[in-house]
Amino acid sequence: MKIGILISGRGSNMVALVDAVKSGEIPASEVAVVISDKADAAGLAKASERGVETVVVERSGRSRVEHDAEIISELTKRGVELVCLAGYMRLLSPLFVQAFPNKIINIHPSLLPAFPGLDAQRQAFEAGVKITGCTVHYVDELLDHGEVILQKEVAVLDDDTDETLSARILEQEHTQSMSKRSESWFANKKLRCLFDSCYCTAKTIFMRREIC
Ligand code: GRF
Repeated sequence: MKIGILISGRGSNMVALVDAVKSGEIPASEVAVVISDKADAAGLAKASERGVETVVVERSGRSRVEHDAEIISELTKRGVELVCLAGYMRLLSPLFVQAFPNKIINIHPSLLPAFPGLDAQRQAFEAGVKITGCTVHYVDELLDHGEVILQKEVAVLDDDTDETLSARILEQEHTQSMSKRSESWFANKKLRCLFDSCYCTAKTIFMRREIC
């Protein structure tokens, strides 16, 4: 499966995904391109270091649809079948969502539907919740919305700061096994993804795949 990853910043989830593909942890897959909407995104160099093609598609005063149309073109000309949003800080247009129906996933640092949007970790911290976490979900036209695929809980400790809590959630995003079984459907409902042992990060949806 050809994967396209969209980033806007440091790209640590992108790195986890690329490394899992390269190590074979995610089998039969290839990261075809990493696309950033920011020319100065630190993740671009990390992708290049790993031999992954990078493309910058800046908004540059264009409408959301015009911007998305260029990204769709970059993805489709490389045959991308699955789009992973890994710290991509823009809401997708309906055009984008409809171009990849049920084939766009996002990772968000809260237990959605709680704390959507920016600074989800700080929102949780300031709300005083004792449990937060991270969510992998399908992407629709709404902000941090769409069917949940996986979630992982993270306890908020008494001595946590915004930074320490964020770091523990990020660790779960990258590596933590959820040891659970879940199913999902991709593409045109002919490709069935079955997961034996999933991790709370986009990469884990590939742990085991069957076509039926
Ligand atoms: C992560 O916390 C992710 O959940 C959120 O944006 C952050 C991106 O971090 N969507 P990175 O760029 O992957 O390091």
